[in-house]
Amino acid sequence: MMSISYVSTAAAPFDDERLADLLTQSRRSNHANDLTGMLLYRRGRFFQVIEGPQDAVEHLMDAIRRDDRHSDVRILLSERIDERRFTEWTMGYEPIGVPTSPAPEGFRDTFDDLESDDDDAIIRAVRELTVWFRARTLAGATTLEREGSR
Ligand SMILES: Cc1cc2nc3c(=O)[nH]c(=O)nc-3n(C[C@H](O)[C@H](O)[C@H](O)COP(=O)(O)O)c2cc1C
Repeated sequence: MMSISYVSTAAAPFDDERLADLLTQSRRSNHANDLTGMLLYRRGRFFQVIEGPQDAVEHLMDAIRRDDRHSDVRILLSERIDERRFTEWTMGYEPIGVPTSPAPEGFRDTFDDLESDDDDAIIRAVRELTVWFRARTLAGATTLEREGSR
C-alpha cells in the first residue's frame, strides 16, 4: 500500500454544498477502489491524504491532477505504508461551534507549515496534522465528517 499527501488551491471558493458534492462523489468512488484518507479544506486550500493499493492511489492522483476545480497540486509526501492511518474516509471543513482541540501551530488559518522548503519540516507537519485531524474527528465530528465516514 501507499500513501500520498498533497496541497492544492481551489479554483473558486468551495461552500458547504460543493464540498458535500465532492465528498459524496469521492466517498463512493474511494470505497469502490479500496481507498481511504482525508480531505481538509480551509480558506481556498485543500490538504488531502489518499492511501490504499499503489495502482488505485496513482490512478486517482492522475484524475485529481486533471481536475480543474483546483490547481497547483503539490505532492508533499509519497510513501509506502504497512497500515492505513485513516480506516474511514473523513473530511474536515472549518468546523464552527464544534468543540475541538486547537490545530497545530500554523494550521489555524492556512497550511503554511506545509509550504516549507525543508523536507523534514514538511514530513513533521504532515504527521502532526494527521494526528491532530484524527484526534479531532474522534472527539466530535461535524456533519460533513459524519456523512463522510463509511
Ligand atoms: C480537492 C479534490 C479532492 C478530490 N478527491 C477525490 C477523491 O478522494 N476520490 C475521488 O474519487 N475523486 C476525488 N476528486 C475528484 C477527482 O478529481 C475526479 O473528478 C474524479 O475522480 C472523477 O474522475 P474521472 O472523471 O476521471 O473518472 C477530488 C477532486 C478535488 C478537486
